[in-house]
Parts: sequence; structure tokens; C-alpha cells
Amino acid sequence: MSSVKIAPSLLAADFGNMQRDVEMVNDSAADWHHLDIMDGVFVPNISYGMPVVKAIAKYATKPLDVHLMIIDPDRYIKTFADLGTHVLTVHYEACTHLHRSLQAIKAEGMKAGVALNPHTNVNVLEDTIKDIDLVCMMSVNPGFGGQSFIENTFEKVKALKELIRRKGANTLIEIDGGVTSKNAKALVDAGADVLVAGSFVFKSEDPKRTIKELKEITV
Ligand code: DX5
Ligand code: ZN
Repeated sequence: MSSVKIAPSLLAADFGNMQRDVEMVNDSAADWHHLDIMDGVFVPNISYGMPVVKAIAKYATKPLDVHLMIIDPDRYIKTFADLGTHVLTVHYEACTHLHRSLQAIKAEGMKAGVALNPHTNVNVLEDTIKDIDLVCMMSVNPGFGGQSFIENTFEKVKALKELIRRKGANTLIEIDGGVTSKNAKALVDAGADVLVAGSFVFKSEDPKRTIKELKEITV
């Protein structure tokens, strides 16, 4: 019996009460804090930047799972290491030299993640999967919280699981976007190791209980 990791996305938190919401995650059954960084270029939205990450890091007691939705992420690898990032995820579609970016992330002492947009086939990771600690599979088009889950994700999770098995890699599969109690169990059954949940957690009546319910899902 293995238990899924839960990473609430602070994009859906109340930014006016960020300390309160970070502390809610600290006190919950969640495993990581998921931080979404958007530049308004790679995705059509701007979220928040380093000063806000620094403020979150000041109160967070769980590992920071940072998802960069930005072009040319290499420029900020050291900055995010200095901010206390545990897993730093870059987008496959934003990296011309993905292998080099992964090495640079690891050289800074962080776990290296790669995010795939819904249109990107998992086979593009055939030659790098053994160097990747986590694949963040986008189950919505990145840029906004609160979107509907794309059902094709199930097939992609299975294909990625098979690629990881075939290559003997130790990569975690994270699902990001539209995760709810309706699809969570099926995602874990398909091979997901980490579930990111933004709106479903923060817009629920009792976020801590919602996190606990997601955490109790087992294969
Ligand atoms: C979307 C972000 C997600 C987002 C998920 O671009 O990467 O992490 O916060 O939010 P929900 O769970 O509301 O789809
Ligand atoms: Zn994300």
C-alpha cells in the first residue's frame, strides 16, 4: 500500500491571507507546498514572483514544489535554490537544452522536475527520464487555476509509467490541473505519485479535511 503525496497549489490561496493559508497547509496532511510561477509570456497570465516566494518560504514548514511556467528558466535556477526550493520544475516546451537545465538544477542541490503541456507526448522524455526526479503532467493548459481536467491525461499517465518502468528510472509522476475527488483515485490507480490541487482544496468548505480525504487515497 503506497500513499499519494498531496501538493496544494497556493495559486488558489487568498493572497491577502497568505500566511494563514500557508499555515493551514503546514497543519494539514499535505506533503508539499506547490508554487506556480508565471511570466505572462510562456503562459498568458502572471502569478507572483520572488518576494512572494520568499514570504511563503518564511512560513512554510513543508518542502517547496516550485513549478516554473516561464521562458528561459535557466536564468533563475540559482535564485530558486537560494529561496529554499526542494523540487524545481521547468517546462519541456521552454527548454532548448533540457539536459543542461536538469544538470544545473541538481548542481544547486534541488530535485529536477519537467512539466509537459497537454499536447506534449511523453515519449519526448525517452532520453532524459533517468535524469528526471519528477514529471509534472499538466492535466489542463497551464496558466490558470480552476480549469476542467483533460481526460486524455489518464492515457498519458499510463504511457509515462510504462516509460519509467522500461528505463528503470525512479521518476515521480505529478498531476497538475483540475484534480478533484472525482478523478483522484483513478489517477493514483493509473500511476500518479503526487496530486496537485488548487481550487478543489482552497474553495472547499474545510480545506484541511479536503486535503486529508485526498491523502487517504491508496492504490
Ligand atoms: C495551472 C497551475 C496549477 C493550478 C492548479 O497552470 O500549474 O498548479 O494552480 O489549479 P487547479 O487545481 O485549480 O486546477
Ligand atoms: Zn502548477
